[in-house]
Amino acid sequence: MGKVVLGVAVAVAVTTCAVAAVVVGRRVRSRRKWKRVVGVLKELEESCETTVGRLRQVVDAMAVEMHAGLASEGGSKLKMLLTFVDNLPSGSEKGTCYALDLGGTNFRVLRVELGGQRSSILDQDVVRQPIPQQLMTGSSEDLFDFIASSLQQFDENAIDFEKSSIRKELGFTFSFPVKQTSVSSGILIKWTKGFAIKDMVGEEVAGALQHALDRKGLNMRVAVLVNDTVGTLALGHYHDADTVAAVIIGTGTNACYWERTDAIIKCQGLLTTSGGMVVNMEWGNFWSSHLPRTSYDIELDAESPNSNDQGFEKMISGMYLGDIVRRVILKMSQESDIFGPVSPSLSMPFSLRTPLMAVMHEDDSPELTEVARILKNVLEIPDVPLKARKLVVKVCDVVTRRAARLAAAGIVGILKKIGRDGSSGITGGRSRSDIKMRRTVVAIEGSLYTQYTMFREYLHEALHEILGEDIAQHVILKVTEDGSGVGAALLAASHSSKSVDNIQLL
Ligand code: BGC
Repeated sequence: MGKVVLGVAVAVAVTTCAVAAVVVGRRVRSRRKWKRVVGVLKELEESCETTVGRLRQVVDAMAVEMHAGLASEGGSKLKMLLTFVDNLPSGSEKGTCYALDLGGTNFRVLRVELGGQRSSILDQDVVRQPIPQQLMTGSSEDLFDFIASSLQQFDENAIDFEKSSIRKELGFTFSFPVKQTSVSSGILIKWTKGFAIKDMVGEEVAGALQHALDRKGLNMRVAVLVNDTVGTLALGHYHDADTVAAVIIGTGTNACYWERTDAIIKCQGLLTTSGGMVVNMEWGNFWSSHLPRTSYDIELDAESPNSNDQGFEKMISGMYLGDIVRRVILKMSQESDIFGPVSPSLSMPFSLRTPLMAVMHEDDSPELTEVARILKNVLEIPDVPLKARKLVVKVCDVVTRRAARLAAAGIVGILKKIGRDGSSGITGGRSRSDIKMRRTVVAIEGSLYTQYTMFREYLHEALHEILGEDIAQHVILKVTEDGSGVGAALLAASHSSKSVDNIQLL
């Protein structure tokens, strides 16, 4: 009997030890996997580092590249495109004007009533329509016919384009890189933001729209062709004459600013009555070795239809941030089973869109329920433990913080170029303390800035860090709602009576 008891006791002890060994083994393995996942996050944090020192290097690089892009055609990845907009709206514009705004996933038609006194936009009608995906990659004729039809339908009673004998002046906002040949004409250099209509590249943009309007029998003339940043600067200046630059941070990103014509060296003999002109930087294509680039950026770029292009945009704008985060979660998921087996949605490019990434980032519920919902419904990753959900929030934070801080550095780069950063520009020698800083307004638009609080806060924080409080208090970022559309209508009004041509190229 005693032997039996002893035997049972030994067997129990052996089994217990075996079970304990399995449990301990599992824990060790799971700890190792967790460590690997945390390692992925650490590596991401390190490679996204944006110390104020590094941001200042980006500021300097931006200012230097601006000079290079103005000095010669092709002198920099920054195209620094002439816009032929040599006068910004003064506030005295009067009458009814129209705008078409094409540049992202939506297309808008606007009618604006101007009262003739600063800040008196009397009335505004807007119709927004999504652009069908197939039109973004089809033929230019199909795209412009679709746009002309939308115009035709736009509040037919109020506008009555066809019956009216008075020709309507139209501002056309076309938010892609265009080499302008006048204020109302220009040639498409390339597409960005997922558009890829091959027969349009190298073609005249306003002409293509004008032909479509004529085909529909609409009595309208394309009076100005502008980038969305230029429309935003126009509206910003209409409301506040201290506005010197405009920045868009939405699906894509870009900036424009007011430049002295004598600084536009590549265009010797450019004469304008105002002595200045708006320059469309196309800063989405900015590149510098100081930009903190990760393996995820390199992969995203290599797999994009426009690789080696739009490098700054791919680190900053709404088209890409969600996909960078998706790539990091995919890596984590491949390194461990903390997110379960790799789901097909997680492997699919652009399955995580930036607005949803922002929702995860800003989820302040204790259980991170929004994060859990999006991981489950969008990326098909159910049952993610809380500690892994926290990790996902951290990834969103790192990616967004880098984007916002780089955008801030870009803005200070422009201020530096025009001597509004408290120094005297990149060639000057005066110190910050000698300079009396003027009130400087930058008009800003785009969903990342206007709708993503964390992004906006990180951008402001970096601006203050780079400039220092004394200077930063004179720099005002002003949201200029609908600038891309209303601004184009304003420019159409100011360019309707005069033909472009107090601007001369000698
Ligand atoms: C385009 C710019 C545009 C910006 C913001 C970029 O992808 O190249 O022309 O201003 O997006 O819409």
